[in-house]
Parts: sequence; C-alpha cells; structure tokens
Amino acid sequence: MIFEKIQETVAFISSKVTTLPKYAVILGSGLGGLTKAIQVEHELPYSEIPNFPQSTVEGHDGKLIFGTIGDKPVMMMAGRFHYYEGYNMQEVTFPMRVMKALGVDTMIVSNAAGGMNKDFRIGDIMFIRDHINLFPEHPLRGKNDERLGVRFPDMSEPYNLALLDKAHAIARDAGIDVKEGVYVGLQGPTFETRAEYKWLHVIGGDAVGMSTVPEVIVAIHSGMTVFAASIITDLGIREEQNTITHEEVLAAANEAAPKLEKIVSELIKSI
Ligand code: HPA
Repeated sequence: MIFEKIQETVAFISSKVTTLPKYAVILGSGLGGLTKAIQVEHELPYSEIPNFPQSTVEGHDGKLIFGTIGDKPVMMMAGRFHYYEGYNMQEVTFPMRVMKALGVDTMIVSNAAGGMNKDFRIGDIMFIRDHINLFPEHPLRGKNDERLGVRFPDMSEPYNLALLDKAHAIARDAGIDVKEGVYVGLQGPTFETRAEYKWLHVIGGDAVGMSTVPEVIVAIHSGMTVFAASIITDLGIREEQNTITHEEVLAAANEAAPKLEKIVSELIKSI
C-alpha cells in the first residue's frame, strides 16, 4: 500500500522536475536561509503533491524545492511534519520514502534543540553523532515491506562518520566553532521539566528536541546516508531562570543560522 503510494508520488514529481535530486535537505530551524543558496528549478507545494501529508495550519503550506547547489542536484523540504502536530509516524516519514525513491542518497537535517551538556551555550551548533529515540511510536512498527528496507535495521552508525569528519573540516577552515553530541528525540509539544532535562542528560543526551529521530530512522531503513545538526536554542539544565518560549528558540536559531547554512552548502558541494 505505502509502496504504491510512494510510486504514485514519485511519478508525479518526476513528471514536473527536470533534474532528479541526489541530496535532500530538511530545512529545520537554522537552515531556512539555505533556500538562498539553491538555484531553484521547480517548487511544488505539498498541497499539489499526491499522498503528501497536508499542512494543518491554514496559510502555512510547505513545499518541496528542486534545484542545484554548485553542480549538485538537491531537493529541499521547506516545512517538515512533526509528530506533535498529530501526524502519525508514516505521515511524518513519508517524504523520506519519496526522497529515496527519487534517487536521493544523502539526507541532511537540521533542528532546534535544548542543550543539556554543560559545555554548550545558546547559539552553539551541535553536529549529531548519535541519537536516543524516546518517541512513543516507532516509524517502522508494523509489517515490513522488504522493498523499502530490512526488518531489523542496524543503527550502529546512523550519522555517517565520513560526513561528520568532512563537516568538521569545513567548520574548522571557516573558523566556525562546533560541538558534537547525542540528540534525544521526544514527542513534545511541552518543553521539558527541570527533572526531565536532568534525566535526559544522565541517560547520555547532550541536546533534546521534537523532530529528526523518526526521519533519520526511515532514512537509514531506506539506505540513505545522513548528516544532521542541531542549533542549541536554550539550556535546560541551567539552575537559574529556566523558562523557555518558542520566540526565544526562534531568535537563537536565526542568529546561528548563517554559520550552519555555510557548513551545509559547502558540505554538499564537497561530496
Ligand atoms: N526541548 C525540546 N525541544 C526543543 C527545545 C527543548 O529544550 N529547544 C528547542 N526545541
């Protein structure tokens, strides 16, 4: 069923797009400006794409952008689907199935996250080295379609080490300080309590957020290579003032964004 839906969606997109993508970027917080780095060939609003989840927020339809960065064929997701919005995991991760079927082999993801590592500061960029999945529903639960991937995917290196090395080298050359760490993904939409931030740090998390993990699981299941980065927009473990607002998160993400955009566009050009 899902296999047929993917084929239908891919047939539609292929009929609209001249150059098929090899790279996909999910424009989470901190990468929105990358739309300026892409030479746009086509834009497809989600509302026009068969089988794509539809945005529940009026006037906030997302879109797929197709084009090139340097000479690399890229697709971008402007607008992602969060589990807390009410989408089920198949909807959240349907775009990754479509990416793979279009020919994408590398997926790049960004997000905003709360920092728990004591060395982190607001505005830091953290490359994701590993994750802990605390979502209440797994995107691969249910009957497995072997055409999409194996029943029990290996998760020993979801974030490709060669890409991590390359991204570190690019950041170093550009004089951009970056951190590296473990991202904990959970459903939200509440930010964490003080006790939860402490607990998430104790179990091995450096940063926490409400996206990315389901997307990466399905990317790995389908055989794509992944690079991901967080922008640290707040610090959950600080003892003093501990309130967090969505506005603060957006402001911190926007400030750090140009640095992450530079790293990602250089990374795409270099692979
Ligand atoms: N927790 C969860 N999600 C987030 C946070 C956080 O502290 N900051 C930005 N997204």
